[in-house]
Amino acid sequence: MKKILVTGGAGFIGSHLVKRLTEQGNYVTVLDNLLRGNKLEKHILNSVRFVKGDVRDFETVKAVSKGCELIYHFAAVLGVDVVADNPVETMETEIIGMKNISDSAILFGTEKIIYASTSGVYGHSAINQSVTENIQIDPRTSYAIAKRYNEIYLAALHEEKGLQSVSLRFFNVYGIGQDNRMVVPRFFEQALLNNSITVYGNGKQTRDFTYIEDTVNACVLTAEKVKGCEIFNVANEEEKTIMDLAKEIKAITKTQSEITLIEAPKKRYDFEVERRMGNSEKLFYAVGSKPSTSLSKGLKIISNHFKNESKSQLVKQRG
Ligand SMILES: NC(=O)c1ccc[n+]([C@@H]2O[C@H](COP(=O)([O-])OP(=O)(O)OC[C@H]3O[C@@H](n4cnc5c(N)ncnc54)[C@H](O)[C@@H]3O)[C@@H](O)[C@H]2O)c1
Repeated sequence: MKKILVTGGAGFIGSHLVKRLTEQGNYVTVLDNLLRGNKLEKHILNSVRFVKGDVRDFETVKAVSKGCELIYHFAAVLGVDVVADNPVETMETEIIGMKNISDSAILFGTEKIIYASTSGVYGHSAINQSVTENIQIDPRTSYAIAKRYNEIYLAALHEEKGLQSVSLRFFNVYGIGQDNRMVVPRFFEQALLNNSITVYGNGKQTRDFTYIEDTVNACVLTAEKVKGCEIFNVANEEEKTIMDLAKEIKAITKTQSEITLIEAPKKRYDFEVERRMGNSEKLFYAVGSKPSTSLSKGLKIISNHFKNESKSQLVKQRG
C-alpha cells in the first residue's frame, strides 16, 4: 500500500487509474480543478482524499503532495478544439504544473513521477512507419510542444537531482466515461442519436486507438517496475482509418445514421496528421506487457455499456 497523488484524477484516464489504485488498497489523493467535471464514481470519490485545486498553484501542490511516495501527473488541458482555443492555458497548465509537481517531489523526497505525455509529440513523423521512442519527433501544437518540454525537463531533473520519472506517450485512449471532445464518444453519440456521423477530411487519416484498461495497466506497471528516467509509447499497434472507425461504430450500434465527410475547421489544421501508429516494444520489454485489446473488442464493451444508458445520459457526456 502506497500514498499516491493523482493530478487530473477526476478526468477520464485519471478516474480509471484512481479506481484501480484504490482497489489495490493504496491511499490516494486526487488534485483536480474540475475543469472537465468529475468522472470519479461516487463510491471511489468517498474512498479518496479529494482536493479541488489547481496544479499551477504551488502552495496547493505542496500541501497535497507532502508524504506521497508516488505522483501520477495527469492534469492537463486537452482536446483539439479546446487546445486550439486556449493555447496559453494549455501551456501554463503543462509547464507551471510540472514545475510545481517536480519541485514538490524533490522537496518531499517522492520516489517517482509518472507523467502523461502524448503521441502528439511525433507530429508528422509517422508518415511511413510505426513510431518508436527514439525517432526524430516533430511536435507542432502548443500542447505537444509543452508535453515534450516536460519530458526533457524531467530528464534534466533526473540527471541533476536524481528524481525518477516515467513519461508515457499515450495514443488516442478511449473507453467508458470519456466525453465527446474525443472522436470515439462523439461518433457513438451521433450514431445513438441517429444523427450524421461526421468525419473530417477524406477519412483516410489513421490513428492507433488504445483501450483505457490497457492504458491503466501501463501506468501501474511502469510505476512498479521502471527505474531511472524513461519514456514509453503506450500504443495498441493497430492502425485504423477514421472512416473505418466510423463504419465500425455504425455497424455495432445498428444506427440509421449516414457517414458524412465534412471539412475540418481551420483551427484543427495543426493537429491533423495523416498517420499515427505507435510501437510498444520498449514497454513490453520493460514491464512484460503491452496494450492488446483490439479496437473491435473495445468498441463492443462501450456499445454494451451504452445499451444500458438512456439517451439523456449519453448527451450528458458532452465535454
Ligand atoms: N485521452 C487521450 O487520448 C490522451 C492522449 C495523450 C495524452 N493524454 C494525457 O493524459 C492525461 C489525462 O487525459 P484525459 O483524457 O483523462 O483528459 P481529461 O480532460 O479527462 O482529464 C484531465 C483532468 O485534468 C484536470 N485539470 C485541467 N487543468 C487542471 C489544472 N490546472 N489543475 C488541476 N487539474 C486540472 C481536468 O479537470 C481533468 O479532470 C492528460 O495529461 C493528457 O494530456 C491523453
